[in-house]
Amino acid sequence: MLSGRHIVLGVTGGVAIHKAVDLTSKLVQSGTSVHVVMTHHATRMVTPFHFQTISRRPVVTDLFPEKPDWQPDHIALADQADLFAIVPATANIIAKIAHGIADDMLTTVAVAIGTRCPVLIAPAMNGHMYANAVVQENLSILRRRGFAVAEPEKGMLACGYEGTGRLQSVPRLLEQIAMLLTRQQDFKGKRFLVTAGPTREPLDPVRFISNRSSGKMGYALALAAAQRGADVILVSGPTSLESPYGVVRLDVQTAQEMHRAVLDEAKHADVVIMAAAVADYRPVEFQQHKIKKTEGNITLTLERNPDILQSLGQAHSNQIRVGFAAETENHLENARRKLENKQIHLIIMNDVSRKDAGFEADTNEVTILAHHRDPIQLPLLPKHQVAHRILDQVLELL
Ligand code: PMT
Repeated sequence: MLSGRHIVLGVTGGVAIHKAVDLTSKLVQSGTSVHVVMTHHATRMVTPFHFQTISRRPVVTDLFPEKPDWQPDHIALADQADLFAIVPATANIIAKIAHGIADDMLTTVAVAIGTRCPVLIAPAMNGHMYANAVVQENLSILRRRGFAVAEPEKGMLACGYEGTGRLQSVPRLLEQIAMLLTRQQDFKGKRFLVTAGPTREPLDPVRFISNRSSGKMGYALALAAAQRGADVILVSGPTSLESPYGVVRLDVQTAQEMHRAVLDEAKHADVVIMAAAVADYRPVEFQQHKIKKTEGNITLTLERNPDILQSLGQAHSNQIRVGFAAETENHLENARRKLENKQIHLIIMNDVSRKDAGFEADTNEVTILAHHRDPIQLPLLPKHQVAHRILDQVLELL
């Protein structure tokens, strides 16, 4: 998987730099060409000569070296990369790349590579720094652009604090590099339709019935499919999220609007994934003016919304359809019933009574159910990793 591939490894000045040395060694042992680019701060922690000996290639540190004859320039490095990884990535490098600053060799290579090949950023820093809103915002920018982030681990940090900020272990980094290299463009030429977010069913000009869906799960799926080469249309209910990079987004409000948009777009889709939390019922009447408070109770009458997935099952026989099951009890039994009734190929069950899974959380723990097969139970993972694992199952079906 790694043999014969070219990896540009950006190394910055973090105390976890020793893992970058080990990673280089493991990559070279598996037949990968590793081109190391170091920042000046990194060279103060480990010498370029050390990386040069291990990678068996010249290490690049300067944008304008005195003896340029043997050094590949930033464009040449970017052109030959099958993957670009930054290990460890400091808060500084994350901020620079998020904002397109190119003031040294490493950041210039990053801008030249853009999203032409998979990019893996492996942050490592003090827990307070990692939790800082500006670092998190910068990482969100990079994720939206399609960069993979090797989420740092929780544990004892070099600074003596306990927290989240520890660079992932070398075996885990190798797994992710291998995964990114194999996944590259495996959905090229396929058209995906993904739904995300809640729907809003209006009662009057200022009130509506809705649910807690943030859109994170659906957006992660749309981004993951686009990263893997698919043409993606995202039909989104109201969310506060920015559009994922490389995805066409159609905004809707109500279940009926989502129904129309999905039926229109599904005609051209090879894969439909419904992660949206669609309201099953809407108020029978929309009051033109704000409903006035009275002394007594009021009664709302609700009517059924169309079941979007079910109507697709009847209309398009040769596309892969994936639904989600948001459950709070009898999880697998209810999910399996939805798999059968909605005539879909996969259903992703999540327990929405949990705080760290389902609605709003950044993580999810799902069980993937298919016909005539044992369920696949995934561990608790960040939603973008869950998205890739779901897409791996879709790929098998395709
Ligand atoms: O958005 P997040 O905050 O990240 O939260 C993610 C999530 C919890 C919303 C997501 O993981 C999820 O579970 N989405 C499905 C929510 C839901 O509506 O589940 P359900 O069990 O009620 O519906 C089953 C399936 O039928 C779903 O794929 C749903 O999109 C679809 N459906 C439901 C009702 C309807 N009228 N038409 C439909 O197509």
